[in-house]
Amino acid sequence: MKKTKTYHITTFGCQMNEHDSETLAGMLAEKGYEESPERDEADVVIFNTCSVRDNADKRFFGTLGQLKKIKKSRDLTLCVCGCMMQQQHIIDDIKKKFPWVDVIFGTHNIHQFPQLLDSALEEKKRVINVWEDGGEIVEGLPAKRLYKHKAFVNIMYGCNNFCTYCIVPYTRGRERSRKPEDILREVKCLVADGVREVTLLGQNVNSYRGDENTDFSDLIYMLNEVEGLERIRFMTSHPKDLSDKLIQAYVDCEKLCKYIHLPVQCGSSRVLKEMNRKYTREDYLELIRKLRAAVPEITISTDIIVGFPGETEEEFEETLSLVAEVEYDSAFTFLYSIRKGTPAEKYPDQIPEEVKHERFNRLVDLVNEISAKKNAAYVGRVEKVLVEGYSKNTATAYSGRTDGFKLINFEGSEDLVGKIVNVRVTAGKTFSLEGEIVSE
Ligand code: 5AD
Ligand code: SF4
Repeated sequence: MKKTKTYHITTFGCQMNEHDSETLAGMLAEKGYEESPERDEADVVIFNTCSVRDNADKRFFGTLGQLKKIKKSRDLTLCVCGCMMQQQHIIDDIKKKFPWVDVIFGTHNIHQFPQLLDSALEEKKRVINVWEDGGEIVEGLPAKRLYKHKAFVNIMYGCNNFCTYCIVPYTRGRERSRKPEDILREVKCLVADGVREVTLLGQNVNSYRGDENTDFSDLIYMLNEVEGLERIRFMTSHPKDLSDKLIQAYVDCEKLCKYIHLPVQCGSSRVLKEMNRKYTREDYLELIRKLRAAVPEITISTDIIVGFPGETEEEFEETLSLVAEVEYDSAFTFLYSIRKGTPAEKYPDQIPEEVKHERFNRLVDLVNEISAKKNAAYVGRVEKVLVEGYSKNTATAYSGRTDGFKLINFEGSEDLVGKIVNVRVTAGKTFSLEGEIVSE
């Protein structure tokens, strides 16, 4: 009997990439492939890359190097895709230094992957196909979901904001929104398949424009009506476009989780201007005030970049004071990383590595102290939790997310997976909560 062919995908970067990998897996499943848990045993190995910071670049190139030996020892098709492939200098590097790569494609043509794989297999030569920009949105691609009860749904692609540090507008192209009816159809299919929570994805969901009558808040109101759907989340919001209408949607739509990821990037208005973020520290704080006035229990997370070119000690302290004022539930902190082809690459006054690290450590200490304090305040509260499965930490505990996106561990049983249960919080740690299930 012929052995079933297998694949293994390694995904770097954001949820958008994770979701693209689900699509790649779905297309391979349609071709009869099975997933292999081990990269070293798979027939087709895919790397879906990220170029937002240089540490992901480095890890990717390191692994490509290691694969040379494995490729020599057995038959294997090596495919690379994702944001890094949208940069010509990366493709040139791969051609020169890693000639054992078989298929290279980009972010705009993942739907072509099955054909590209076939031609690499048939013609036994390297296939490179990268589109410069996104064409028409391709609907109806299959997906093999990472989770049974929650799903990612792309609502738009690309970004028009050109923050001066960021590579994404160059690798993901201009903004394109999916039609509301296509999104609605997908969400209904997912719900019919057991999904209870959807996360709407876009680089800047606040600028979603499905048609002349449907902006992002309208889309939320529409999805709030989908029977069987329990929770709606979204990622990521740009503060410059967060409307009062969306804040009202938190009040009106019971399915919209009371959580927002609202990247601030830095607390100094001068640096924000240099970053081309199009809001000031005061605008941002005003938004937070409005959100909390309308939705007092809302949890808030953010992204912060430390060491943007020209950032002074005083300006960094403005970031610290903003963090102390907002009191984020959690924050993703990044060292500024030079990206080739972005405006900030050429800015003078790049900050020395040791200064960046020193500031970064101070920021992380503050962020963690606040997270721990906020989580400790949850003790005694009863939270609605969508049970996801075994907790990574211990074999007996299950884990899930609260409405406010906090990770919580508790004793549970397999039949609860996919259900929403009440959990009383018994302890708050820096990155998670502990709890016990309560009936009712
Ligand atoms: N250096 C460091 N962090 C970056 N981000 C984007 N570009 C860079 C960069 N060049 C961060 C931003 C963004 C998150 C996804 O990654 O904080 O919100
Ligand atoms: Fe990058 Fe700014 Fe677009 Fe976000 S909004 S993807 S940080 S350019």
